[in-house]
Amino acid sequence: MENAPKTQTLVLFKPDSLKNSLAGFLMSSLSEINTGLLLAGIKSIQVSRLMAEEHYSEHKGKGFFPSVVEYLMGLSHFADEPKKQWVIALVYEGVDAIKKVRDVAGPTNPINARIQKPGCIRSLGALIPVTDSTGKTIDNRIDNLIHASSSESDAEKEIKLWFKPNEIPTALRGYPTVTSLSSFYYSNGNLLTSYTDGAVCLLAAGDLAWKSDLDALTAIASGKPSPVSLDAIAAKYIANL
Ligand code: PPS
Repeated sequence: MENAPKTQTLVLFKPDSLKNSLAGFLMSSLSEINTGLLLAGIKSIQVSRLMAEEHYSEHKGKGFFPSVVEYLMGLSHFADEPKKQWVIALVYEGVDAIKKVRDVAGPTNPINARIQKPGCIRSLGALIPVTDSTGKTIDNRIDNLIHASSSESDAEKEIKLWFKPNEIPTALRGYPTVTSLSSFYYSNGNLLTSYTDGAVCLLAAGDLAWKSDLDALTAIASGKPSPVSLDAIAAKYIANL
């Protein structure tokens, strides 16, 4: 078991878990003594629309997409309390990390969770009707307290979306990093290589970056196609500004 391959997974404590004062319970449920997993990273983050839309990008166009974005941004649970509009993002590492966290979280839908796995984290969640402008229910928003990556490729994408490499201790970084030799700025959805008024610095020369982010920025800056979008890179750098 010592030599079994270790994987990492991204976890989010969503606004409903914070509203219900469940962060401590979630931390305990996922603790090393309960799951065998190491906590590799943790941060509080005010979720921008850009970040929420990137996180749920595969669901763009679905009926529940706008409401799940507002939910993650804290606008559903803390509409009038901007100081509470943030989530806790965590990285866990270990053998079978993805499966272990999803086992503790339970089924996505809290109604199924209560039936199939009483006592799991998501069994404490709720289904909230989503209505159209006439008040007709068109879908349900799933308030299920916790997000957990569903595959190794999703985990890599999500960890790199939410965390800069230097927010994870060196020994626990799961993906290649490089030092950027150039500077990159973000302004109105565009990538710049020199500073202009109001631009946000994504990376300065000498900064550590995920290798895949730097490869993508270099490609985008020279007009080449990139497998990672500029917004997916920028989201973590413009958070909490
Ligand atoms: S999963 O568990 O991630 O594999 O589920 P998946 O179906 O791929 O992800 C859907 C995410 O959107 C959230 N969500 C909804 N899904 C389906 N239907 C409705 N109405 C809905 N509302 C919200 C769902 O909770 C999943 O997000 P996470 O953060 O993974 O729970």
